[in-house]
Amino acid sequence: PLRRMTVPQIAARKGAEPIVALTAYTAPMARIVDAHADVILVGDSLGMVVHGMDSTLGVTLEMMILHGRAVMRGSRRALVVVDMPFGSYEESPQQAFGNAARVIAETGCAAVKLEGGARMADTIRFLTERGIPVMAHIGLTPQSTNIMGGFKTQGRDEASWPAHLADARAVADAGAFSLVIEGVVAPLARQLTEAVPIPTIGIGASAECDGQILVLDDMLGMNARTPKFVKRYAEIGRDIDAAIARYAAEVRSRDFPAEDQLYR
Ligand code: KIV
Ligand code: NA
Repeated sequence: PLRRMTVPQIAARKGAEPIVALTAYTAPMARIVDAHADVILVGDSLGMVVHGMDSTLGVTLEMMILHGRAVMRGSRRALVVVDMPFGSYEESPQQAFGNAARVIAETGCAAVKLEGGARMADTIRFLTERGIPVMAHIGLTPQSTNIMGGFKTQGRDEASWPAHLADARAVADAGAFSLVIEGVVAPLARQLTEAVPIPTIGIGASAECDGQILVLDDMLGMNARTPKFVKRYAEIGRDIDAAIARYAAEVRSRDFPAEDQLYR
């Protein structure tokens, strides 16, 4: 029987074999991703990707738990990490622990992810010391979209680098086992990766990181438009559209169902 990847195994990948991570939100997709990825993130991107929201801000703990349970059922090998949604952890370490403990207990996942650098260090330490491994997330943090005024690439101005470096060091010192770096220029991603003893997992953050993650639906070509950093490995949306167009045409022409689909 295959054992799941563990938090220490992922942490030990620093400077070694690159970490392969992807998001998934449903059991059937988790099953496919599980065969290839080290880490499956149940990202709060599901608010936009699955539920059609304009941002991740409306995602609830209940939504994360529901999708987390589906992904756990669909996977057996990858380490599953579930995102803490906006409003479920920022108020205090105690609030974060209560909600993260629910995520762990109700989904069976091994770790949570939360956004924020130095300002979240106390919370990361509080959770880690009480048995909840934390993946941190710095750089472009989508839950801060209203502060940033949109999704803005970080680190274009070199004057901002010390603050990003301080964020990376703070979350690593606090006990985070890995660190997502989103939407930062390549030279900053390199400095951040060199600055911490934990693996960095990049998204829109160059190949300087210790691993990579993408939003599954983006890399599969489910959405009409994707950001520059996304490589579209398939055009699933186009294939689905073609399949449904054929079905619709064959229903209208009464070519479906045909002999092969008939009970005798
Ligand atoms: O919600 C998400 O999918 C994420 C990844 C893109 C890192 O946070
Ligand atoms: Na997220």
